[in-house]
Amino acid sequence: MIVKNPLELMQDAMRGGYAIGAFNVNNMEITQAIVAAHAAKQAPLILQLSNGARKYARTEMLVDIIRSMERQYPDLPIIIHQDHGDSLQTCQSAIEAGFNSVMIDASGEPFEENVRITKEVVDFAHVRGVIVEAELGTLGGIEEHVSVDEKDARLTDPEEAVQFIEQTHADTLACAIGTSHGAYKFSSDGKVDVERVKEITKRLPDTPLVMHGSSSVPQEYVEIINKYGGDLAGARGVKEETISEAVQYGVSKVNIDTDLRLVMTAIIRKILTEDPKQFDPRKYLGPAREEIQKMVEHKIDVLGSANKIRN
Ligand code: G3H
Ligand code: 13P
Ligand code: ZN
Repeated sequence: MIVKNPLELMQDAMRGGYAIGAFNVNNMEITQAIVAAHAAKQAPLILQLSNGARKYARTEMLVDIIRSMERQYPDLPIIIHQDHGDSLQTCQSAIEAGFNSVMIDASGEPFEENVRITKEVVDFAHVRGVIVEAELGTLGGIEEHVSVDEKDARLTDPEEAVQFIEQTHADTLACAIGTSHGAYKFSSDGKVDVERVKEITKRLPDTPLVMHGSSSVPQEYVEIINKYGGDLAGARGVKEETISEAVQYGVSKVNIDTDLRLVMTAIIRKILTEDPKQFDPRKYLGPAREEIQKMVEHKIDVLGSANKIRN
């Protein structure tokens, strides 16, 4: 079911020391795989749509696919979330389409402007029973050459986070702790500042934190892609131990998109290379869907969200 009180689900996760996976959906197969994995593991889930996804498939198409999955698994708690909303209008249209959670990402703006834009979205969303994720800080890998000052300027400042939540009343907070989007998060063994999560949680014990750029870029899939004609040399993600640690310190929503893309691409490349006469999409999209489900079930174990459905 599309949950009536999404914040309750996030706070349950925060208090229970686990995180809810927030997976990006772009088409039917990806959505089916993610939902089936969560149903198998009895884990609550967040399906998130970026603006790119909404444009690619049309918002209503993706929402209808999600609604259809909801009918298939009526007891599974689902949050439908706008990923990286870039304006009040984007968040309004998401809410009108039936989303019960939106992110307003004004993190590229100066603090005061981020507060102003976020507040506008909070005012619109809260009276409609929709929760708001906001972002403070700048995402980006922390490389070894980055100085301490530079690092501090980019990552979320714990004191500023308190002021930000007090002034905006955002429900959840996306923090910059050294991760970045995509398959190339670090040029060397990258560091993620999990201690910062601890500091922010200490000051904001009731605000579930969100970790963007959480794909671990599993090397087994990168190797398949590279073996079958792709070129993702040097692709690297966040270690799973780091994710588990961040979850223990207060991260309650973990965003994953890149890993879904990698699995799908790896399986399709392998099948089409090994069987060049194949041209039935079901013969490569089907196995890709199965492998995504397997990968997502593993993520649920990493996040600790299995069997966390309340009755
Ligand atoms: O935040 C990034 C997500 O992976 C969404 O990516 O904008 O290409 O759909 P996208
Ligand atoms: P990844 O690119 O690491 O999957 O991050 C996805 C994300 O943060 C979506 O908001
Ligand atoms: Zn993100």
